Amino acid sequence: MPVSLQQQFQQLSTVLQQYRQYWQLLPFSCPQLPWQNAPLQRCLLALDETQIRLIDQSSRLQQQYFAEFFPVLFSLPGLTAAAAQRTTAALPFWLENGIAGRKLQQIDALCQQWPDSAAPVVEWCAGKGHLGRILSHRFKQAVTSVEWQPDLCRQGTALAEKYQIKQQFVCADVLAGPLSTVLQPQQHIVALHACGQLHITLLQQAVQAGCQQLQLVPCCYHLIPQTQYQPLSAQAKAVDLQLNKDDLKLVVQGQVTGGERIEKLRSTEVLWRLAYDELRAELSGQPHYRPLASVSKHWFSGDFAAFAQWAAQQHQLSLPAALDWQAYLQRASKRMALVQRIELVRHLFRRPLELWLALDKALYLQQHGYQVQLTELCPAEVTPRNVLLSATKRQAAF
Ligand SMILES: C[S@@+](CC[C@H](N)C(=O)[O-])C[C@H]1O[C@@H](n2cnc3c(N)ncnc32)[C@H](O)[C@@H]1O
Repeated sequence: MPVSLQQQFQQLSTVLQQYRQYWQLLPFSCPQLPWQNAPLQRCLLALDETQIRLIDQSSRLQQQYFAEFFPVLFSLPGLTAAAAQRTTAALPFWLENGIAGRKLQQIDALCQQWPDSAAPVVEWCAGKGHLGRILSHRFKQAVTSVEWQPDLCRQGTALAEKYQIKQQFVCADVLAGPLSTVLQPQQHIVALHACGQLHITLLQQAVQAGCQQLQLVPCCYHLIPQTQYQPLSAQAKAVDLQLNKDDLKLVVQGQVTGGERIEKLRSTEVLWRLAYDELRAELSGQPHYRPLASVSKHWFSGDFAAFAQWAAQQHQLSLPAALDWQAYLQRASKRMALVQRIELVRHLFRRPLELWLALDKALYLQQHGYQVQLTELCPAEVTPRNVLLSATKRQAAF
C-alpha cells in the first residue's frame, strides 16, 4: 500500500530525531570522531580518500558501507520518479539559445509534467524567464514572469518580444509583501529553483490567494532570514527538530555537478579554512572553532597567505609578518581527513532531511485544501535539487 505523505513525514521525523547526533553537528568543531560507536569508528578509519569520495557520491555504496549502522535510515521510502504526463516535441533552436544544457533538461522535465490547464501561468523568481518562455511557446499559455533584477526583466522582455511569446515581466521583490496585483485564484504558479525564503513566501502567498495549481522545485533551503527554520505545517511544528542554518546547509552540501575544477576548489576551501583555524587557535589561544563567512570561490585559486590575511581581518586578528604557512596546511590536512569522515556520515542524512523539508511544504498545502504530490523531477546527475512538489486546489463541495 502506498505510504501517505503524513506517514512518510512521521517516519522521517522519527529517524532524523533518533540519529540526530550523527548529523546535527559541525564537523569543523570536532577534535576527533564524535561518536562512541566503536564499529562505526573502525569502519571510518579504515577508509582511504578515494573510497570516501566514491561512497559519498553513490547511494548504493552508502548503503553497502553504512546500512548495518543505520538500518532504519536505509529502509525509508524515497521519492518515485515523476512519470511523464506528456511527450514534448523538440524546441526550435532559437528558443534554446543561451540556456545551459542542464537547465534545458530540467525545463524539459517540467514540461513533461505540465498538467492540462488553461489557467494563466505565473513564473516565480524567473531570472530571464527561460522556463516561462518555453512553457508559453509549448502550451500556448500566457505567462507572467516575476523577477526583481531589472536587467534580467529587460533581457527576458526583449526575448519574448523578439520571438512573439505571450510572456510579460513584473519587476518586483517577492519578499516585500503579497503580490496581490499578480496572484489570482485562476492561476498556475511555477518556480524552478527558488531559494529558501523565496519558495516559502511563494507557498504562503499562493495559499493566501487560493491559486489553483502549483509546481515548485525548491533549492538552497538555508537561505532564510531567521537563524532557525520555521516549519509551515502543523505536523512539522509539532516535531522537535530545531533546524539551524548549518543543518539546512547540509541538504545542499558536497553534491558537485560542476565537474573536477569545482570539486578541487571546494577541497582547497575546506583545507584553507581548517589551516586558518589552526593558525587562529594558536595565535589567540582559543581552541574552539570560529566560523567564517562564505566567500567567493575565486579566493581558492589564489594563495593561502592572502586568504589567511582576509580571514584574520574578519576575526580582528593581526598576523605576524613571518609565518610558516606550510606547517598550518599540513596540520589542516590531518584535520581534513577527520572532517571528511564525519561529513561522510552526515551526508547519509542529506536526502532524508531534504524530504522532511519538502514534506513540511506538502503537508502545509494539504492543510490548506490542496491535493499534493512529491516526485523526483529528473535524475540527480541533472540536478541534485530535483524534488518536484505539485499541488492542485481541491474544488469546494457545494
Ligand atoms: C536560483 S535563480 C532561479 C532562476 C530561474 N528560475 C532558473 O531556474 O534558472 C533565483 C532567481 O530569483 C531572483 N530573486 C532573488 N530574490 C528575489 C526577490 N526577493 N524577488 C524576486 N526575485 C528574486 C534572482 O534574481 C534569480 O533570478
